[in-house]
Amino acid sequence: MKKIPIWMDCDTGTDDAVAIMTAHALEELEIIGLSSVCGNAPQALTYPNTLRLNRLMGTDYPVYRGAEAPLLKKLETAETFHGKNGLGDVELPLPENPVYREERAWDALYETAKAYKGELKLIATGPLTNIAIALGKYPDLPEYLPEILIMGGSAAFGGNVTPAAEFNIYADPEAAAAVFKSGMHVVMCGLDVTMQGYFTPEDLDELEAGGTAGGRFTKACLSKAMKALTQFGLPGVAMHDSCPVVYLVHPEYFEAEEAGVYVETRGSITNGKTVTDLYSDKQFDKKNATVVLKLDRDKFIGLLKKSVSKIK
Ligand code: RIB
Ligand code: CA
Repeated sequence: MKKIPIWMDCDTGTDDAVAIMTAHALEELEIIGLSSVCGNAPQALTYPNTLRLNRLMGTDYPVYRGAEAPLLKKLETAETFHGKNGLGDVELPLPENPVYREERAWDALYETAKAYKGELKLIATGPLTNIAIALGKYPDLPEYLPEILIMGGSAAFGGNVTPAAEFNIYADPEAAAAVFKSGMHVVMCGLDVTMQGYFTPEDLDELEAGGTAGGRFTKACLSKAMKALTQFGLPGVAMHDSCPVVYLVHPEYFEAEEAGVYVETRGSITNGKTVTDLYSDKQFDKKNATVVLKLDRDKFIGLLKKSVSKIK
């Protein structure tokens, strides 16, 4: 079976970590490169956190350092859910001989996309700063990267940072606006679908009882968020970032619609809102996005459990 070559750009991050472990475990995918962006935590943490996953998984995927700050905004991180170290305050060791690559994320992504002649799939699970920098430096990037799958935004759900904006878009609205206007087709896994894909406390207990390194780490790194979210009355912790990964391999687990989607960057109340024409009379000029709206939770969560448990 021909594997799909992928590049993941992450603000690692607890659910980013689960997404990377899932991508590693899915035999349909081949991780070609990983890059880190500031978001859940500063770049000074998301970069080593991504390296730390190589040691947990027993891999040596190349990891490239990305942006230290959003394009214009001041960085706002998310310690409440991801802890002070970005991994739920779980200590994961660095690789014994970590390879710190000089090449920056946007340069490495462009060169790799060119080398794969349009076959590479980009999955972005954090703010889109690195992608926007790559588009600015290499305007022909969409020729080599016709599609990007993101966790970000929302259609009808509203926001999780402000009433209007989801974190990844809110953190760098200018970057997101550039991506949606770039000519790349965007598969948008927003809160409408990602909030359906949650682990319950029982799911995490089951993973821990399984005794695998991946299962134990998943339980440990999500415990802080699980406590906070269940106290709010939510049923569990959404695995937001695994949605674009699983969608790439099993679109049949999901329901999606084509739409025009653009990002508000000037609103005093709506800044960072992804505006879609899914439900409006007036339509945007083109259907630049596939907006993912529903998922089969049993199939989705079952696949995540199986995937992270493969990491012994
Ligand atoms: O809104 C959810 C997103 O914000 C996820 O990517 C999570 O990792 C955080 O970055
Ligand atoms: Ca993320």
